[in-house]
Amino acid sequence: MAKSFADFPRFPLAHLPTPLGEMKRLREALGDDAPRLFIKRDDCTGLGGGGNKTRKLEFIVGAALADEADTIVTTGALQSNHARQTAAAAAAAGLDCVLVLMDMVSYQGAAYRRSGNRLLDDIFGADVRIIPPGADATTFFKTVLSELDAKGAKTYFTPAGGSTVTGSLGYAAAYLELADQLDALSIKGARLVHASSSGGTQAGLVAGRLIRPDGPLVHGINVYRKDTDKMRDDITRLAADTAARLDLGALADDAVILEDGFLGEAYGVPTAGMVEAVEMVARAEGILLDPVYTGKGMAGLIALIRQERFKADETIVFLHTGGMPGLFAYDEEFGGSR
Ligand SMILES: Cc1ncc(COP(=O)(O)O)c(C=O)c1O
Repeated sequence: MAKSFADFPRFPLAHLPTPLGEMKRLREALGDDAPRLFIKRDDCTGLGGGGNKTRKLEFIVGAALADEADTIVTTGALQSNHARQTAAAAAAAGLDCVLVLMDMVSYQGAAYRRSGNRLLDDIFGADVRIIPPGADATTFFKTVLSELDAKGAKTYFTPAGGSTVTGSLGYAAAYLELADQLDALSIKGARLVHASSSGGTQAGLVAGRLIRPDGPLVHGINVYRKDTDKMRDDITRLAADTAARLDLGALADDAVILEDGFLGEAYGVPTAGMVEAVEMVARAEGILLDPVYTGKGMAGLIALIRQERFKADETIVFLHTGGMPGLFAYDEEFGGSR
C-alpha cells in the first residue's frame, strides 16, 4: 500500500491550500483562441515572501529536526529564492542557517548583487558565504563544513533548490491539493504548466500524478539548463525515486514533459519574452511574476498558446512558484519611466 504523507517528518510552514484563481483578463489579452487560464498561487505559501520552496521545506526542515540538526546548510545562486526561503524556514524552526551562494549568473544589473533575495537573506539572519570568483566550489564547501564541524554544529545539508526526494514530497502533496481544487470546479483534463529548474517541483508533481492519474498533465518549462534532454532524465530519476519513497507504482517513460526554447542565453539572464510576460500578467491580473523562473515560465506558456499548442476548449493551470523579490534585483529591465 502507498505511504501517506503523514508517515514523514514535517514541520508546518505553509499557508495551505494555496488559492486557485481564474485569469480571465489574461485570456482575453491573448485572443479568442486562448484556452481557459487558471493560476495556482504557490507564491502565496506565506513563508518569508512565499514561493514553491515552502512546500519542500516543510519536509526538509522536518527531516533536519528528526536528525537533531541545529544548522541547515544550503546553496544556490546569489538571487536564489530557495536560499531566501531556507533562511526564513530556519528562522521559523529556531535553526541556524548557512547559505553558500555562487556568483554564477552573468547578469550585471546594479541591484543584482545586493537587493532582492540577497537583501532578504540578511534580514532573516542567515550566515551568508559567497564563493569568490575563481575559487573551487567543492574546496570552499569543504572548508565551510569543516569550520561548522569544528564549532560543534550539527548540520543538515540540502542541495540547490531543495531538490531531493524529501523536498519533492511537498510537490507530490501539492499535486493532490490541486487535483481536489479542480474536482471542486468540475474541471477535467486540464494541463499544469510551471517553470522547472533544479527539478524537485516537477518530480514531485509527476510522482503525485501516480496517485491521481486523472489529474492534470504536467508541463515543465526549462528555465535552467541548455541540455534539456539531460535535465529531463534527471527529473525523471528524481520523480521515480520520489514515487518509490511513497511506495507508488512505476513511472511511464514519457511522464516528464519538459518544454525548451524559453531559457534564452542562460539561467538568470533576462529575455524579451520574460519582460513581456511579467508586464502582461501584472497589467492584466495584478499578479507579480519573477524574472528568473515564473516570468520565463509564463513566456513559455504564452508562446505555446500563440503557437496553438493549447486549444481554446482546454484549461491550463499556471503554477505560480513565487520569486517576486527577484524583481528588485532586475529593476533595470522593467518599467521604463524611471
Ligand atoms: C520562483 C521559482 N520558481 C520555480 C523554481 C523551480 O523549481 P525547481 O527548482 O523545483 O525546479 C524555483 C527554484 O528555485 C523558483 O525559485
